[in-house]
Amino acid sequence: MKATAVAHANIALVKYWGKRDEARMLPEAASLSLALDRLRTTTTVELGDFSADSFTLDSRAEDPSRARALLDAAGIRQRARIESRNEFPTAAGLASSASGFAALAVAAAAAAGLRKTPEELSALARLGSGSAARSVPGGWAVWENESARQVFSPTHWDLRFCIAVCADGEKQVGSRDGMRSTRETSPYHGAWIAQCRRDLPAALHLLAARDLPGLGALAERNALRMHADALAADPPLLYWQPATIACLQALRALRSSGVQAWPTIDAGPHVVAICAPADADAVEGRLRSVPGVTELLRCAPAGGATLLP
Ligand code: PMV
Repeated sequence: MKATAVAHANIALVKYWGKRDEARMLPEAASLSLALDRLRTTTTVELGDFSADSFTLDSRAEDPSRARALLDAAGIRQRARIESRNEFPTAAGLASSASGFAALAVAAAAAAGLRKTPEELSALARLGSGSAARSVPGGWAVWENESARQVFSPTHWDLRFCIAVCADGEKQVGSRDGMRSTRETSPYHGAWIAQCRRDLPAALHLLAARDLPGLGALAERNALRMHADALAADPPLLYWQPATIACLQALRALRSSGVQAWPTIDAGPHVVAICAPADADAVEGRLRSVPGVTELLRCAPAGGATLLP
């Protein structure tokens, strides 16, 4: 009747930005991500005879409708009391939906006593938010159709991801609306999707070879192309702040001085720098000095969603 699960948010190196089927939450192209240890969400689901569903995130009441869609898809008819806690700043707009819905899928299935395969749990999480499908298997995950799978474990490669928080507050256009409008109005969208289909096999090859300059440069290009697509939407989607561009420039300057670090950016202003553990102090120190950067979070690879005893 009651269960608690933990999951980590993920950062995509080949991004998902466009659905081929909105109702079923299926992506136009496959994506590749890594789960990050410090972006952790704990979710408790209690099923019972409550008068209505309720959902609190960090003690604030939220709309439970997306969570209900996930529960309905799992065949859970009972009302749910859902309590979710993020161990990272949600207010800063860091991707919390991936870890939140991954933890919800795992906790809800357990609370209802349902035996689900990892693929089924990933497919359920997808109905809450697409990228949540990748937080269920965790590690290096590829999401292509109904569910995501782990392609390399978190221990495959010891990397660091330094997140430079570049603005306070939630983003103005959420990813669901943003990708829909980009798909419908950007003249570059077809080219973006074609590029993702080329990027994924190349990224997997570089990941297998642990080629940081190769994979870092690919991740930077992929992120900038996603933003180019979003910028070309009507109305334009500009997710960046001045600090975002300053971080991109700072990482370029670092690379020319011999420190290997590459950026990626989700649908928001924050910059995530990918580097080797030995370079993380230098990268973090440099990004901290960028005007407008309010916080820095250093993350390492993490595993999949798990049920707490
Ligand atoms: O799953 P959503 O709706 O949060 O969309 C995720 C979109 C990006 O974060 C920009 C890219 C990705 O693949 O995670």
